[in-house]
Amino acid sequence: MNQNPDDLRNLGIPPEFFEARQLSRCEEASHLVFVELGADGREHFLAPAAAQAWKTMQAAAKAEGLPLLIVSAFRSIDRQAQIIRRKLAQGLSLDEILQVSAPPGFSEHHTGLAIDIGTPESQALETGFAQTAAFAWLCRHAGESGFRMSYPENNPAGFLYEPWHWCFVAGSANAQDL
Ligand code: DAL
Ligand code: ZN
Repeated sequence: MNQNPDDLRNLGIPPEFFEARQLSRCEEASHLVFVELGADGREHFLAPAAAQAWKTMQAAAKAEGLPLLIVSAFRSIDRQAQIIRRKLAQGLSLDEILQVSAPPGFSEHHTGLAIDIGTPESQALETGFAQTAAFAWLCRHAGESGFRMSYPENNPAGFLYEPWHWCFVAGSANAQDL
């Protein structure tokens, strides 16, 4: 686990970072179910309630001719730390990295409730997703399945705009903590 202050300091993330950003701690999901295989062969897992809601939402979009797919779902705290270490090794600064990646222990992906959504007509994890019919559909209908976009433009968490990142909040006991 890399969620205690010592581990965060090991990555070079100072305690002051958290004063400037409105981030909530995110626990790792205790129960996960397999949901789908990504185009790259990766297996995607979600918490059961989010998996059910995702399938309902995906079917509703498909019925309107809009394919939605999972680019990324559950991610462990250790995996988040690995991602940040890899980006540091690639020469990115911590400031740059923390505009797009949450510190380990603070990513909604740990909870098994968050999904990075893609659609075949756009590049995964690119803001061009916001120009797709799939995104327009999500903005109108995702709430009906309990999903909300976590990081709109100028979000208080301080991340760059992520039109692809949606989190299941309805029915969650700690929805207000996400
Ligand atoms: N990209 C989002 C902020 C995450 O790392 O959880
Ligand atoms: Zn995400």
